[in-house]
Amino acid sequence: MNSQALSSSSAITRIPATSSTPHHTIIIGVTGSIAAYKAAELVSQLRQRGHRIFVVMTSDSKNFITPLTLQTLSGNPLVENFSDEIPGSSCGHIALADRADLLLIAPATASAIARLAYGFSDDPLSAIALATRAPLLIAPAMNGKMWEHPATCENVERLRSRGVQFIGPSVGLLACGYEGSGRLIESSAIIDCAEKLLTHKVI
Ligand SMILES: Cc1cc2nc3c(=O)[nH]c(=O)nc-3n(C[C@H](O)[C@H](O)[C@H](O)COP(=O)(O)O)c2cc1C
Repeated sequence: MNSQALSSSSAITRIPATSSTPHHTIIIGVTGSIAAYKAAELVSQLRQRGHRIFVVMTSDSKNFITPLTLQTLSGNPLVENFSDEIPGSSCGHIALADRADLLLIAPATASAIARLAYGFSDDPLSAIALATRAPLLIAPAMNGKMWEHPATCENVERLRSRGVQFIGPSVGLLACGYEGSGRLIESSAIIDCAEKLLTHKVI
């Protein structure tokens, strides 16, 4: 390598992963929606805003985005199985439930919403939702007919009555070829809502 190459590479500096001391700990649950790839942007943006991010993936979400991508962007160990450990704890999912200032599920499938509505705990994300006392924010994404089905409507209502917050979905072109309600709302709107919840502002 010549001296010119050396001097230009010396201009490359390592940027701290976060802009400042983490403001809050946010657990981001990612489920098996075609919109799961958008979780990468969400994780990255929230981390850049100074939050400490842990990602919890459902088994089916791994068909849509790799654990390595989300783990790397979050900068923290990822939970996909009950046996996954978080440093300083022998029980990863409970440690995350206790540490969370907010549990954000984005995108949330119809199936995940149903599990949450009925208090299932057979996957780490559902178990964390039961064990945490942090606010829960859900950003659904699904086919419009699934979103409007009475079963989904009842599940959403059941969760809302317990204080769970929903953001979206928005209306637009859906990956399944339909147009209507069911698109994951934009990351900026999710981030805005999450930060309002974290600072106890009414949304
Ligand atoms: C290509 C494809 C896209 C899908 N997108 C969605 C979706 O956006 N929303 C949804 O509720 N289900 C969707 N599904 C179905 C879910 O992946 C399926 O219900 C799965 O069991 C959800 O698991 P999870 O909730 O544990 O992640 C999709 C399935 C396929 C094959």
